[in-house]
Amino acid sequence: MPERILVAVAWPYANGPLHLGHIAGCYLSADIFARYHRMKGDDVLMVSGSDTHGTPITIRADQEGITPEEVVDRYHGMFLKSWEQLGITFDLFTTTNTENHQKVVHDVFKSLHEKGYIYTDNMLLAYCPQCDRYLPDRYVEGTCPHCQNGRARGDQCDACGRTLDPQELVGPHCSICDTTPEFRDSEHFFLKLSAFEQPLLEWVEKQDHWRSNVKNFTRQFLRDGLKDRAITRDLSWGVPLPLEGYESKRIYVWFEAVIGYLSAAVEWSQQNGSGNWEDFWKDADTKSYYFIGKDNIPFHSIIWPAIIMAYGDGLNLPYDVPANEFLSLENQKFSTSQNWAVWVPDYLERYDPDPLRYLLSINMPESGDADFSWSGFVRRNNEELVATYGNLVNRVLSFTFRNFEGKVPGVQSLDEVDEGLLRTARETMDSVDESLHNCRFKAAIAQAFSLAQEANRYLDTKAPWQSIKEDRALAGSSLTVAMKAINCLKTVLYPFMPFSSQKVHEFLGFDGRIESERWDYQALVDAIQAGADLRQPSPLYTKLDPEIIEEEVQKLGIAAPSE
Ligand code: MF3
Ligand code: ZN
Repeated sequence: MPERILVAVAWPYANGPLHLGHIAGCYLSADIFARYHRMKGDDVLMVSGSDTHGTPITIRADQEGITPEEVVDRYHGMFLKSWEQLGITFDLFTTTNTENHQKVVHDVFKSLHEKGYIYTDNMLLAYCPQCDRYLPDRYVEGTCPHCQNGRARGDQCDACGRTLDPQELVGPHCSICDTTPEFRDSEHFFLKLSAFEQPLLEWVEKQDHWRSNVKNFTRQFLRDGLKDRAITRDLSWGVPLPLEGYESKRIYVWFEAVIGYLSAAVEWSQQNGSGNWEDFWKDADTKSYYFIGKDNIPFHSIIWPAIIMAYGDGLNLPYDVPANEFLSLENQKFSTSQNWAVWVPDYLERYDPDPLRYLLSINMPESGDADFSWSGFVRRNNEELVATYGNLVNRVLSFTFRNFEGKVPGVQSLDEVDEGLLRTARETMDSVDESLHNCRFKAAIAQAFSLAQEANRYLDTKAPWQSIKEDRALAGSSLTVAMKAINCLKTVLYPFMPFSSQKVHEFLGFDGRIESERWDYQALVDAIQAGADLRQPSPLYTKLDPEIIEEEVQKLGIAAPSE
């Protein structure tokens, strides 16, 4: 029975280009998962969009002296191009700056307001007398009351991950001019999170399939107690309130951005005659997976579920929140302001997408932090991609193409060694299937690669380039068995490296897109038929010159990011 899967992916702030940390954080794992499920014949909807509100956008606009709309347009366009080039296959990548989004947000806001889950109260807001303005939460810095980190921001502490209100900070100061802000009284709307502490705790306890870091973090967060939070701000950029008399306020970015998962599904369904968003949101059998980086956990495992509980109307709670940990770059934190980053558009100008997808999969920060280094990139490209997998495909397919008139030779009776390889291929298809089903991406690609290693050993044992001299049919049979294994390999590697799998698909003589193939061992093995035409193969990957390591490392941290 096909499953129905909503792949919900964190909405990146449209205030700068994407770097490899973003890709490793959630976009790649989401895409692998979506491709895998599509190939399994499941019904997938993968959505996200540009997060166009909030201070990250207005800070950038202020810095450049342009409007927030201009900032958003520029980076939204860049995101779309990066997705295309990297092969990140959203069904819809929209923005939070659409009429539809505003409409859905208003509907949720009004519903919660009517039910008493959103209420008004006075709150203290940070006002900087020196800068003569109200300070957005992130502009207030100070010491975290929970973990004593001295560099916490008024919205969140990066050290312990807790969400904060600016007035909770010890020794608050303005991040622009360092002055101690005054806290002035103002009327705002609050989300009654406290009402959901118990229901959320009970719900989280039941999520046995969650990654332990996500579950433990969420549980601890709830045990610390859930406080109601203000969900409006005195700002001019953002989603307006659906009530009269509050024209100078906007809905807080985090409250409305998470509603994007719902509004994007609605937008997709309007654009897509055959698709219905309700299938992905209201059918209790649909599973929703939220791919996010670890700094976003509380918004997806607590605040968004609380909003869904408050709204009701049959909307599904998250099924899983497979958050990744952080990626560092040459053992240092990615930093936009210090240009300590590898920008996706820059990477794609110089290298192919699949080697990056490979490296960030095999080295995914899945259950702990991971590091990207250029030396690791070159080594793994050369020793693993080129030497193990690329070489396997190339030697089998070129040798066959040359010696068997470009056709599949066909098998003779199989011996134990042949059967051993085919058994490994079948087992690998099952184990990769299970790993991907459980969002264990690192394990999945390692399992796929061990099939490539096994196939190389098989070839060394069978040595068809030797046997062809005495027994052409035997050599042809070994090559055919190897091709059957390669047909399975192209499939298990497809979610990770779609571009090279498409090539292998074509070298093997198949037409059309590989995504219309199914994850089916028997069908893949049977598809390699005696006499079928192959195509002239070419190398799948290019060996990288170790000199690029030095060149690339030199670029880090030097020039300011392109503005
Ligand atoms: N824009 C936020 C960030 O980059 C993520 C928002 S995820 C959302 O951290 F669901 F809230 F949109
Ligand atoms: Zn803290």
